[in-house]
Amino acid sequence: MSLLVKIKETQAFLEAKGMLNPEFGLILGSGLGSLAEEIEQKIVLDYSDIPNWGQSTVAGHAGKLVYGNLSGRKVLALQGRFHFYEGNSLEVVTFPVRVMKALGCQGIVVTNAAGGIGYGPGTLMLITDHINMTGNNPLIGANLDSFGPRFPDMSNAYTKTYRQTAQAAAAKLGLNLSEGVYLGVTGPSYETPAEILAFKTLGAGAVGMSTVPEVIVAAHSGLKVLGISAITNFAAGFQSELNHEEVVAVTDQIKHDFKNLIKTILVEL
Ligand code: HPA
Repeated sequence: MSLLVKIKETQAFLEAKGMLNPEFGLILGSGLGSLAEEIEQKIVLDYSDIPNWGQSTVAGHAGKLVYGNLSGRKVLALQGRFHFYEGNSLEVVTFPVRVMKALGCQGIVVTNAAGGIGYGPGTLMLITDHINMTGNNPLIGANLDSFGPRFPDMSNAYTKTYRQTAQAAAAKLGLNLSEGVYLGVTGPSYETPAEILAFKTLGAGAVGMSTVPEVIVAAHSGLKVLGISAITNFAAGFQSELNHEEVVAVTDQIKHDFKNLIKTILVEL
C-alpha cells in the first residue's frame, strides 16, 4: 500500500471514531504523556487498534492516541511517540504527523526529554531550530506532492509566532523558558563526551533522540511547529554518568510546570 493510501485509510478510521477537525497535534515525549490525561471529552484509542500505526516500546510511553479538548482547543495527542532507535522506519516515526495534517491540524506541539549542553536538569528549553545529526531524512523516497514540495525550506521550521506566544505564556506563569538549538541523533546509546564537545561547538543547546524527523515532515506539509525540550541531565562529559531512570525521574519533577506551560500556550496559539 502506498504511503498516501495508508494516510487516507488511517484518517478515515480516526474520523469514523469521532476524531474530527483537530486544531493541534501534541507529541508528548518521555514522561510527559500525562498531559493527555487532562484532555476533556476525550476519545482514546490504543495504538494497537489503529491501522498503519506503529507500536511504542519505551518505558514511560503509554501508547495511546487521545483526542478531545484542552484549554478550549481541539487537540490530538500522541501519548508516547515512535523512535527510530526502536527499529521503526522513519515513515512509521512520522506517520502520526502526516495524519495530523490530513485531519486538518494547523500546528503541532512537539516535546521531548533531552540532554543539556550548557543547560542543566530541570530547564525548559524552547527549540529555536534543529541540527539533524541522524544521518537520515524522513522525506527520502517518493515525494507526496499533495503535502509539500520535493525540496522543502527549513528556514522557519520552528514557527516564530508560536515561540513568541510560548515566551508570553512562560512570563505569565513566572517560568523561565530558555531557548536553544536541538540537535537530533538516532540513539539509543547516549553520546560520548567528545561528541558532546563537538555538538557544543556546532551551537547545540540540547541533544536528544527524537523530534527532528517529526519536525521535518511537519515543515514539509506547512504545519506550524512549537518545540519544547525538558532538559533531564547534563549531556555526556558534563556529569559523571547518564541513565534512563534519571531522565524519567527529572521529567517527573518538571512535568507540572511543563504541563501548565503547554496549557497556557494552547489558549493563545
Ligand atoms: N542524550 C540524548 N538523549 C537524551 C538525553 C541525552 O543526554 N537525555 C534525555 N534524552
